[in-house]
Amino acid sequence: MLSRRRLLAALPASALLASVPSWQLLAASMNERFRAWEVGEKGGFDTLRMVERTQKPLDDFEVAIKVNMCSLNARDQAIVKGWFLEDKPDDLIPLTSGCGEVVATGARVTRVAAGDRVTSAHFSQWVDGLWDPVKAYAADIGNTVDGWLTEQATMTESGLVKLPDNVSDQTGASIASAGVTTWQALHHVARVKPGDTVLSLGTGGVSTWGVQLAKMAGARVVVTSSSDDKLKRMRELGADITINYKKTPDWGKAVMEQTGGQGANIVLENVGRLTLDQSLMASANNATVILIGTGRLPKDLPKMPGFYMKNITMKAISNASRTMLEEMVAAISANQVDSVIDKTFAFEDVVEAFEYMSSSKHMGKILIKV
Ligand SMILES: NC(=O)c1ccc[n+]([C@@H]2O[C@H](COP(=O)([O-])OP(=O)(O)OC[C@H]3O[C@@H](n4cnc5c(N)ncnc54)[C@H](OP(=O)(O)O)[C@@H]3O)[C@@H](O)[C@H]2O)c1
Repeated sequence: MLSRRRLLAALPASALLASVPSWQLLAASMNERFRAWEVGEKGGFDTLRMVERTQKPLDDFEVAIKVNMCSLNARDQAIVKGWFLEDKPDDLIPLTSGCGEVVATGARVTRVAAGDRVTSAHFSQWVDGLWDPVKAYAADIGNTVDGWLTEQATMTESGLVKLPDNVSDQTGASIASAGVTTWQALHHVARVKPGDTVLSLGTGGVSTWGVQLAKMAGARVVVTSSSDDKLKRMRELGADITINYKKTPDWGKAVMEQTGGQGANIVLENVGRLTLDQSLMASANNATVILIGTGRLPKDLPKMPGFYMKNITMKAISNASRTMLEEMVAAISANQVDSVIDKTFAFEDVVEAFEYMSSSKHMGKILIKV
């Protein structure tokens, strides 16, 4: 009988290729073992734990990605602390946004190939059309399935979006949550156009994209913040009117005054019901208010001033589809716009990165270099 080695040597190359799963053929740079962070006991940021994992064989539609960078989003803090929706398994890898290079593909993957630089839609099975929670939560990166805080990620091809060469890792790793939510708000919900006035609350990931995308569309932008220094930087980014909400608690009225009594016809409500009354005060007639922030509840119910009299449309949104992410990537590539990055931490320093985010010192995005 022929030994296995001699049998392989006797076979033509095509027969050899056919006998090996295709994901293994592309796996030259795929690591067998890699480091990842898991949420652990979810007691706080310091219960995150670093582990070593073994790469599992890829299913037909799965893709292995060598992660270059990932970024923190507001909800990642809640996931790590165990406050976000239902309880998560201890071995969940967190983080919603990231980017990396494809190193291996499952046998039936057609949308990407080894060597492609990619990010993924946050809800990797919401490809197009209207919001559908069943599709969205079936594979919500860093929440219902493993996320980006790992040296090597396995994701399904349905959510992946290729990054053009002129979209940096820093930007590619930080648009799948705050960035594309803002894209959906401005382009799909409010249909922003030149001459519009957009009010964007705060100076975090959503608001810095709010300024950049609204300016790209020819709108005038109003920003609120607790910090004069951050407001100065938001003006440098393109904001036209800036208001310190600590010094001017009645900032809704101030927006009206500083827009010549018109108000904002698009409001990115990036905080939550805590600021809703002031946002409605700042709204123009027929304004669209997009509820993005999921933050704290006020002690009193919002009084909703002007909601009826101004005929305001209010719509809540949950992130965005893959198609919307593709649109945004094309737009920022064509316009050469990048994420605003506050600080980059090493993979080993992720606890410090989360603590820095919760101190609210940042403006824009916080990155992890993997
Ligand atoms: N619906 C969705 O799909 C979706 C997607 C992404 C994010 N979100 C939510 O949107 C919110 C913002 O996300 P992010 O990534 O931008 O968070 P972030 O980077 O942590 O920024 C939060 C910002 O909130 C601002 N803020 C807090 N209280 C404020 C107030 N009273 N008035 C005005 N601004 C205030 C702070 O501004 P200053 O520090 O300048 O004062 C800070 O910049 C979070 O609640 C997040 O969960 C929702």
